[in-house]
Amino acid sequence: NGPYDAVMPLPKAELHLHIEGTLEPELAFALAARNGVELPYADTEELRKAYQFSDLQSFLDLYYELMAVLRTEQDFADLADAYLARAAEQGVRHAEIFFDPQAHAARGVEMGTVVEGLWRALGRSEAVHGVSTQLIMCFLRDESAESAMETLEAARPYLDRIVGVGLDSAEVGHPPVKFREVYEAAAALGLRRVAHAGEEGPPSYIAEALDVLGVERVDHGLRCVEDPALVERLVRDRVPLTVCPLSNVRLRTVDILADHPLPAMLDAGLLCTVNSDDPAYFGGYVGDNFLAVQDALGLSRERLRELARNSFVASFLDDDEERRAR
Ligand code: ADE
Ligand code: ZN
Repeated sequence: NGPYDAVMPLPKAELHLHIEGTLEPELAFALAARNGVELPYADTEELRKAYQFSDLQSFLDLYYELMAVLRTEQDFADLADAYLARAAEQGVRHAEIFFDPQAHAARGVEMGTVVEGLWRALGRSEAVHGVSTQLIMCFLRDESAESAMETLEAARPYLDRIVGVGLDSAEVGHPPVKFREVYEAAAALGLRRVAHAGEEGPPSYIAEALDVLGVERVDHGLRCVEDPALVERLVRDRVPLTVCPLSNVRLRTVDILADHPLPAMLDAGLLCTVNSDDPAYFGGYVGDNFLAVQDALGLSRERLRELARNSFVASFLDDDEERRAR
């Protein structure tokens, strides 16, 4: 009974997953062919060679470029279906899935195409894959606050399919406070709130996301470790952090996995979860992230079970749904 058999079947919730970040090279080329989109790479092998990132922005450039192949409802359905199948194989029972509508609107792909397309897969995911799902709509923080507000407006017809809002893309220079009004409007519509903070940005962005945006979960949150008073607050208030270990290594937030602060964060009492962020780009799905931290950081089986349990505690499922999912 090796590490794989111990880790993969553990029931997990995935809380930090960009659906566009699950676009594998093979599917990218298949969709490019289907839609007559020209990709500036000869084949999947050449594309894979481009997956060398020096920081968040160098990844985002490729991530937005490859989205050009996503055009129709069926494209979004196929993308989500492929992710849900992979996730199910790795023990995921519940997924709270980010999507980036502004990145698609930029190519003329409308909100309805994205949400209806994703829903084709999500709507039958419990029956087909045994994975319950929720959708979180993210605002691109390097776009304007006005654009975020227009995006929230465009989402109004689809709010029965969207559980909450998030904030992603290039972090430094785009502090949470820029999105105060749109988060207030989202809260008034009954939407849950999360935000990326403390990935590349300073610990003050984490506090600001809590104080100004009213987020109930912080995505990444890694740089909290630089501020002991902030750590104390996050522990006291049981604020979940959606940590993404393989992402942190690929985007050079930490040098090597063996240096990842996850064990220290757990020892400090932080409510951490392990997630894959953009698995097609960062070398693994959520179970692969569990295996990688077990291997590089020597986490005990009990620690891994704690991480899996945390993922349900930190999810937006209510207690009954949680019991059914795990
Ligand atoms: N968009 C997709 N993945 C992201 C990440 N790790 N950070 C910020 N924005 C993102
Ligand atoms: Zn992310």
